[in-house]
Amino acid sequence: MEKGPTEWGEGRHGVGPWEGEWPTGPDADRYDPELLAEGDRRNVVDAYRYWTREAIVRDIDTRRHPLHVAIENFENDANIGTVVRTANAFAVDTVHIVGRRRWNRRGAMVTDRYQHLMHHPDVDSLLAWAAHQGLTVVAIDNTPGSVPLETAQLPRECLLLFGQEGPGITPEAAEGALMTCSIAQFGSTRSINAGVAAGIAMHAWIRQHGDLRHAW
Ligand SMILES: C[S@@+](CC[C@H](N)C(=O)[O-])C[C@H]1O[C@@H](n2cnc3c(N)ncnc32)[C@H](O)[C@@H]1O
Repeated sequence: MEKGPTEWGEGRHGVGPWEGEWPTGPDADRYDPELLAEGDRRNVVDAYRYWTREAIVRDIDTRRHPLHVAIENFENDANIGTVVRTANAFAVDTVHIVGRRRWNRRGAMVTDRYQHLMHHPDVDSLLAWAAHQGLTVVAIDNTPGSVPLETAQLPRECLLLFGQEGPGITPEAAEGALMTCSIAQFGSTRSINAGVAAGIAMHAWIRQHGDLRHAW
C-alpha cells in the first residue's frame, strides 16, 4: 500500500525511535523498519506502535464485529468521514458508500486506511449484497413508523443504513430494511447530524453485542 499522512507523522502523538535491540522472532515482520528508526507519530493506539499499516489491518480483521454500516451518498454527504472514523473505532467490518463513489475524506482523519470500504452504485445493489451475506438491514432515521433505537433489539449480524443531510433515508432503503430505528430527540431541531446519529447507533449495537473484554 502506498504511504499516507499517518505515515508522514502528525507530531502531536507518538513515540521516538525504538530504543534498544529491534524486535526479532516470528512477529518481527509486523514492525516497520522506518518507524522503528524514526519514531511513530501516527494516531494509533499504543498497542500498534511501530506496526506496519498492513499488520494493523490484519490484526483488527481478527476482531471485527459482524456490524456493517452504510451511508447514502447521492449528494456528496460531508459526514462520511466522521462515520468512517467512528466505524474504525468500533471495529466495524465494512463501511458501505451508496451512490457517488467520491466522498470527502477529511473527517476520517486517515482512519479510512485501516477500515474496509465498499462502494455500491445504488440501494438495490447494497440490499442484494447484504442479503447474500446474511446481514439484516436496519435503517436509521426519525421517519413516521420508526421504532425507538433506545429500546429496539438490534440484530447481531447487522447492517445499519443511514440517510444523508437534507433528504434523509430514501424510500427504497426504508422499504428494504427490517425496521427503521429513530433516536429520541427532545429539542426543536427536526434531526441531528448524520455523523452523530451514526455514532449513537453504532454504540447502541456495541452496548448490545460488543464484548468489553476485547476493548482497549
Ligand atoms: C440530518 S438527517 C435528515 C433527514 C430527517 N429525517 C429530517 O426529517 O430532516 C440525515 C440522516 O441522519 C440520521 N438521523 C438524524 N437524526 C436522526 C434521528 N433523530 N434518529 C435517527 N436517525 C437520525 C438519519 O440517518 C438521517 O437519514
